Amino acid sequence: MSPDDDSVPGGADRLVGAVADGEDLAVEAALRPRDLSEFIGQGRVREQLDLVLAAARARGGTADHVLLSGSPGLGKTTLSMIIAAEMAAPIRITSGPAIQHAGDLASILSSLTEGEVLFLDEIHRMSRPAEEMLYMAMEDFRVDVVVGKGPGATAIPLELPPFTLVGATTRAGLLPPPLRDRFGFTGHMEFYEPAELERVVHRSAGLLSVEVSAEGAAEIASRSRGTPRIANRLLRRVRDYAQVRADGVVNREVAARALEVYEVDARGLDRLDRAVLRALLDLFGGGPVGLSTLAVAVGEERETVEEVAEPFLVREGLLARTPRGRVATPAAWRHLDRTPPAPAAGGQGGLFGT
Ligand SMILES: Nc1ncnc2c1ncn2[C@@H]1O[C@H](COP(=O)(O)OP(=O)(O)O)[C@@H](O)[C@H]1O
Ligand SMILES: [Mg+2]
Repeated sequence: MSPDDDSVPGGADRLVGAVADGEDLAVEAALRPRDLSEFIGQGRVREQLDLVLAAARARGGTADHVLLSGSPGLGKTTLSMIIAAEMAAPIRITSGPAIQHAGDLASILSSLTEGEVLFLDEIHRMSRPAEEMLYMAMEDFRVDVVVGKGPGATAIPLELPPFTLVGATTRAGLLPPPLRDRFGFTGHMEFYEPAELERVVHRSAGLLSVEVSAEGAAEIASRSRGTPRIANRLLRRVRDYAQVRADGVVNREVAARALEVYEVDARGLDRLDRAVLRALLDLFGGGPVGLSTLAVAVGEERETVEEVAEPFLVREGLLARTPRGRVATPAAWRHLDRTPPAPAAGGQGGLFGT
């Protein structure tokens, strides 16, 4: 299960959740950069990919298989489409969970045309037999199609045209090494810098015909948790507010007021995130406290606290997971406008010193 996974209670329907909801899916198509030059940030991955694709084009061949790993909403699906566009190749889109049987994969593979890009989202969730079929397809451009059942079953080898597999995963660590090794190039997507997210906001605002000032874009960017999908979603909510409660222009004040209404604070924490921090500070003196106790205190499932709220709090340096339990960092006290307790007299300071 990935962080912000829909299957975690409390993980869906968050304004700051990184997994796409229905509205995102409808709007994102219009907001996706179409080629590498339009793709903002991810400098390293972009340059590496540019080389891989340019070299393949120069050879007049098919690009090597590409694995894209990174948190939801960072641009993996977008990049896969860009790869196809840059290679002037058609793209076929499917996902690990959609391929339950090796036969499902065989029928997709056998219908690929030469140079086609096969995008396999959530590749870590593919079934075992399909995975093994994929090994051979990636390496030798060949599959064995099994016809019949039982002792009479025969495997008919089938040649495939050269194609480019683009796999995406939020959990590169879950991929079996034989699969990982068959990718010629792996791009690790990082969270975006605020300045990059500002460019994402400006670009999307242009496409959505929303007028946004530099400070307005910065305000949205700083609350977007390093994630373009969240930046685009916050922009849409801020636009609503600007239309209904202001003159339609998104400046800093409008953005801040709108996101206050939606309970997304200056660092991008939402109500759940703050409830966890507040319980940790106010009820447990900043910790350490066990996860289960903390979850009961905020009235949430253990998994919700651990998988929905904590990853971002840890990444932001507001909360630490220690062997003795969850601990608030000094930054957490400051963020909630509280004074950290003085270290006990004669003690060696708290977990984080003074
Ligand atoms: N580098 C980027 N520049 C501009 N927009 C981006 C970028 N990366 C992602 N986006 C936008 O964020 C949204 C989510 O991207 P997507 O590729 O679907 O993420 P993922 O597949 O990693 O979950 C899309 O609307 C896309 O347009
Ligand atoms: Mg995606």
